[in-house]
Amino acid sequence: MRKNQQPVNYADYLQLDKLLAAQQPESIKYGEEAHDETLFIIIHQVYELWFKQILHELMAVITVFKNSKVKDQELSLVVHRLERICVIQKLLNEQIQILETMTPQDFLSFRDYLIPASGFQSIQFKVLEITLGLKRQFRIEDDKQSFLSRLSNPQRAHLTELENQPSLFELVDDWLSRMPFLQMDDFDFWQLYSQATSTMLESDRMIIQTNNQLTEVERMKELAILDETADNFAALLDVEKYQVVLTTGQFRLSHKAMLAALFIKQYSEEPAFNLAHQLIQKLTQIDENLTLWRYRHAMMVQRMLGTKIGTGGSSGHDYLKRTTEANRIFTDFFNMSTFLLPKAVLPQLPESIRKKLGFYLS
Ligand code: HEM
Repeated sequence: MRKNQQPVNYADYLQLDKLLAAQQPESIKYGEEAHDETLFIIIHQVYELWFKQILHELMAVITVFKNSKVKDQELSLVVHRLERICVIQKLLNEQIQILETMTPQDFLSFRDYLIPASGFQSIQFKVLEITLGLKRQFRIEDDKQSFLSRLSNPQRAHLTELENQPSLFELVDDWLSRMPFLQMDDFDFWQLYSQATSTMLESDRMIIQTNNQLTEVERMKELAILDETADNFAALLDVEKYQVVLTTGQFRLSHKAMLAALFIKQYSEEPAFNLAHQLIQKLTQIDENLTLWRYRHAMMVQRMLGTKIGTGGSSGHDYLKRTTEANRIFTDFFNMSTFLLPKAVLPQLPESIRKKLGFYLS
């Protein structure tokens, strides 16, 4: 690293004159300044700064996955950057409580001056959602319309253009689909896996049928759930059935990617899968953290507004609650647990394959 030529000043480097002059309460324009408006401005600005940092990390991750091959060293850096995103998200979720020190009356003392400004207009938040994989078709119905309608034409064009780029979800799907261990010479893992799941499901059926403590109604209910699980297993092992399930939105990952992710999760202790498994864990955590943020934000909104509508014109808490449940991205990594087998019944990998897993993953 070269030595710096010019002395650097703390305040100049951080452009503090601009940063600290950027809190301009609207309430001043209409009379007395509302004390809590400064907190409201600062907290939003801090969120936007952290969104910027998250996007900085995310774009670096996307660049790696755009390559046709991902080296282990690069994957290690990817996992490191995703971990940083997770830690920032935890901070973002904690921060909501600072805003909750503001009472609803304090908020109402300046809220109407802000109409029609709204979190709907946070471009960075929308970029984050889209880049992770929340494209229009996956949003809840009202959000499909609202997410562009409050924006300027250039902003709308920018988000539409971004929707045409591959998201992290899509790139990870491609990467998983390229995993070379799904069919291994004469060792057909999925055949063995299918037999193991049948044995496990039959054992579960027997437990339900012989459980004296269940009423007949409870027994029928549990057997129906078991049948549903068996159908999902069947779809997992049959490409055509899987395509049908994809159209219902129950899964989003392609068939190959789903099998690869499942294989990685089942054999996560194999050295070749270590980083891939960490990657899946981090993406799961990012989805969970984002969902927790939505939930905490929705709760805070209910506390501030009750059932009032939002400044951006949505139904407020009701709208946000529904996005919390539905605007998810990596849910397949959560639901995949349905398909995990206990170690005791998991097919043993032949030594020749275990040796290969010690070295290579692309
Ligand atoms: C008193 C505090 C807050 C209230 C009452 C509030 C209220 C709302 C409401 C009602 C919406 C739905 C859209 C609308 O109709 O306007 C919304 C959306 C949003 N808010 Fe807040 N908010 C608050 C604080 C924050 C903070 C601190 C952030 C941090 C960046 C934030 C970020 C967002 C984002 C990104 C959306 C869009 C969410 C989506 O479309 O799924 N809000 N907010």
